[in-house]
Amino acid sequence: MMCVIKAENITKVFGDLEVLKNVSLEVDRGEVISIIGPSGSGKSTFLRCLQQLEEIDGGKIKIDDKKLGMIFQNLNLFPHKTVIENISEAPIIVNKMNREKAVKRGEELLKKVGLLDKKDDYPCDISGGQKQRVAIARALAMEPEILLFDEPTSALDPELVGEVLSVIKELAKDHMTMIIVTHEMAFAREVSDYIVFMDEGKIIEKAIPNKMFTNPDHPRIKVFLDKML
Ligand SMILES: Nc1ncnc2c1ncn2[C@@H]1O[C@H](COP(=O)(O)OP(=O)(O)O)[C@@H](O)[C@H]1O
Ligand SMILES: [Mg+2]
Repeated sequence: MMCVIKAENITKVFGDLEVLKNVSLEVDRGEVISIIGPSGSGKSTFLRCLQQLEEIDGGKIKIDDKKLGMIFQNLNLFPHKTVIENISEAPIIVNKMNREKAVKRGEELLKKVGLLDKKDDYPCDISGGQKQRVAIARALAMEPEILLFDEPTSALDPELVGEVLSVIKELAKDHMTMIIVTHEMAFAREVSDYIVFMDEGKIIEKAIPNKMFTNPDHPRIKVFLDKML
């Protein structure tokens, strides 16, 4: 297996607050890693550091292939563009792909997330779950090697969560390398090769799902999981 992400002793400080304290994580190609843990433990900051949306204050990040896509909690589609425009814009502008090809590829991706019939709709006309599936298709349009998800379903009504999780499960079957911050414990258990537990800026345990959910080393994790499940 080939390591595609290697984060070594990452530290990140906001003012007086040390938000990441020597966080190290290696991810192999095709692996799915879920990050769980209490609110404020540094999960989003860690993803933002990997994505280079934040400068790190210490440590090293090696990403084998710089092609990362990120899907955020809030549904950040361009409101004044149609679904297909949302998906094809970056390939056209950033990758200089010709429009026809970008639209064709966008339609294939919409088919993959089950939304081809919504291609000419505007974001305000589709549901939250559909928006998030469009956001995934939009990230895929840039042909990322790695996808980072930051609580992709936590802004959704409960009945819309499943459709987004199924799309992510399909990507896992296709061996997409993914790091997923989530509070969906059953999903994390099903889809992940490893679960990482973050608490107060540290990774306190990394384990296979079965171990994490049945017999974690840290009592703190058991308390958290008992509350979540
Ligand atoms: N831009 C920022 N400026 C100051 N503090 C921040 C900033 N972003 C996050 N924090 C703080 O860093 C800590 C970790 O936040 P975050 O990474 O969002 O945690 P999580 O995603 O696990 O809930 C929190 O205490 C949060 O208030
Ligand atoms: Mg967060």
